[in-house]
Amino acid sequence: MTIGIMNGPNLGRLGQRTPEIYGSRTLADLESQLRAKFPETALEFFQSNHEGALIDCLESWHDQGIRDVVLNAGALTHQSYALRDAVEGLGLRVVEVHISNVYRREPFRAHSLLAAVTAGQISGLGLEGYALAVQFLLAT
Ligand code: DQA
Repeated sequence: MTIGIMNGPNLGRLGQRTPEIYGSRTLADLESQLRAKFPETALEFFQSNHEGALIDCLESWHDQGIRDVVLNAGALTHQSYALRDAVEGLGLRVVEVHISNVYRREPFRAHSLLAAVTAGQISGLGLEGYALAVQFLLAT
């Protein structure tokens, strides 16, 4: 089983971007942490600042047989009907992850367009949320 780990806009700058909210670890740190934690699981990583590139990647993963995705869509979570339609249309099993607790921040962050087409959501557990999401996908 291969699991896709997808990060959307501005998450390529983890470690530098408002570290008081998102912490000091980078996306590369996340990748090595997940690879070390799940050595027997094939993990594909993708980050883009562009909505269409994220959708292209989801289509490509789907065509390669990948059905399970950990998705932190960044602000596109709150904005993108197109990403939502891609998740639904491709029939992907998605766990939505947010590093910060989106319910303790600005009100616009409390609404996810993705939530209704995902298996579930992890919010506010830092980078640990990605590992918990992978664990869930492997266990179920
Ligand atoms: C985020 C929360 C979003 O509201 C924000 O736009 C992000 C990151 C998080 O991981 O906490 O870019 O998804």
